[in-house]
Amino acid sequence: MKKWFAVIGDPIAHSKSPNMHNAWFNEMDIDAAYIPIHIKSEQLEKAVFSLKTLGASGWNVTIPHKQTIIPFLDELDELAEKMGAVNTVVRQQDGKLKGYNTDGSGFVHSLEEAVGKEHKQRAVLIIGAGGAARGIAFALQQYGYTNITIANRTISKGIEIVNELGEGQAISLKDAEQQLDHFGIIIQSTSAGLANSEFSLPLSLEKLQEGAIVADIVYNPLMTTFLLEAQKKNAKIVNGLGMFVHQGAIAFNYWLGQYPNTNLMIKRLTEELQ
Ligand code: ATR
Repeated sequence: MKKWFAVIGDPIAHSKSPNMHNAWFNEMDIDAAYIPIHIKSEQLEKAVFSLKTLGASGWNVTIPHKQTIIPFLDELDELAEKMGAVNTVVRQQDGKLKGYNTDGSGFVHSLEEAVGKEHKQRAVLIIGAGGAARGIAFALQQYGYTNITIANRTISKGIEIVNELGEGQAISLKDAEQQLDHFGIIIQSTSAGLANSEFSLPLSLEKLQEGAIVADIVYNPLMTTFLLEAQKKNAKIVNGLGMFVHQGAIAFNYWLGQYPNTNLMIKRLTEELQ
């Protein structure tokens, strides 16, 4: 029987996941389909039941259901449990639904694809303390990055993540700006720089360290104001598209046991977004 997958969210019309996964199915000669389904919050429980009944092999979960879907799943992967958020559901052979989170590991795969794996000892600064920052912090820790600092407008949210991590420190945006030359990897995880965002720079890059790696999780636009500033200072920059493609590739691998071609997909989507 043909396998099928989905992405559920609200809104969902602009998701690039269906095109990406269907292109991979084509490329790899896999007889499967991936469809977007618009699900409002109040329909979530019924939607999960329906996806299960109708035989979906798995699905992605996006805003606003990443946390609220958890009670409707049977099992959680360790990282998803720590993060308190799920973006990928796998229907296992026994029919049970297991939740994973591939957002943070997608970021780390993208970072390491761009700059290699030899920077784990560098001091990392994550700007922002929302859901995306949390996922990235836990994934970085899992992949062996040990020196993590979180800078956020609301410091208490940074402290919360650091406490859950059991290591690292939380500081203000002002302090991060002043101590910027201390950090070798800087990750912008706030909504600053989104095409429709009213604020574009969470902090000044005046004191950026020579040779720093600067990443942004925003991929539309591909070059955020933050990355443009970093580029002017000769930083090695990593845009948000790789994170998107790799979170999908890791999910794909959980579903089908094969890792799709991420390089080709990043090239294709870059052309689309430029
Ligand atoms: P996501 O799930 O995408 O991470 P989120 O949980 O809403 O989204 O988090 C948004 C992040 O952007 C937060 O770190 C937020 O800072 P606060 O925790 O202080 O709210 C940050 N952010 C949003 N607007 C901001 C602004 N104008 N200035 C600085 N930080 C901002």
